[in-house]
Amino acid sequence: LNYPTAQFLISAPTLALCPDDTGAEVAFAGRSNAGKSSAINALTQQNALARTSRTPGRTQLINFFSIMNDESRRLVDLPGYGYAKVPESVKLEWQKHLAEYLRNRFSLRGLVLLMDVRHPLTEFDQMMLDYADQREMPVHILLTKADKLKKGPASAALQKVRSSLKEWEDLVSVQLFSSLKRDGVDTLSQKLNQWLYT
Ligand code: GTP
Ligand code: MG
Repeated sequence: LNYPTAQFLISAPTLALCPDDTGAEVAFAGRSNAGKSSAINALTQQNALARTSRTPGRTQLINFFSIMNDESRRLVDLPGYGYAKVPESVKLEWQKHLAEYLRNRFSLRGLVLLMDVRHPLTEFDQMMLDYADQREMPVHILLTKADKLKKGPASAALQKVRSSLKEWEDLVSVQLFSSLKRDGVDTLSQKLNQWLYT
């Protein structure tokens, strides 16, 4: 299916301001700087669809993209969590919106959870897995920036994450991913097809 046809739809600061909660969407979550916006750009083959930055905390709103001019099928770029430099009050406010979105968004079919392959499964990542588990929503983990490791260490990291997620097996899948090299894009788009179109 046609992820390259994705178009920016709207940015929302809160759940209440999100587009109508109908149809199906998939959200990209993960620590600040994990590579969420870059992954959306790799998937859609558009360099600047989602804004990326070297500065963590770039994405501060819930950004919606529609696929194939069809507003009922959406990709969602979530703000990164764990960004240290914003004031604590702002962080708490954000966590609240994120939690509200993850708990209550009916059209959310699955979560793509991005983790730097060199620092997987942080406390925040565990929290995301818990939110997903609470509503029995599937999670597909991208171990990002795989280009930063040689093949051996990268597959060792993959195996390690897989085995520590054994208990979640039914709901969680894991793959290596590199936006830079475009490695893993096909596997990701197959997963999204499954969630959005079946
Ligand atoms: P926030 O919006 O701040 O939460 O960050 P994000 O998760 O959207 O990360 P973003 O896509 O903006 O990428 C952060 C930085 O990592 C940028 O400098 C990217 O160029 C870099 N980056 C992203 N993906 C990859 C990758 O696959 N390989 C390498 N080497 N760098 C990457
Ligand atoms: Mg971003």
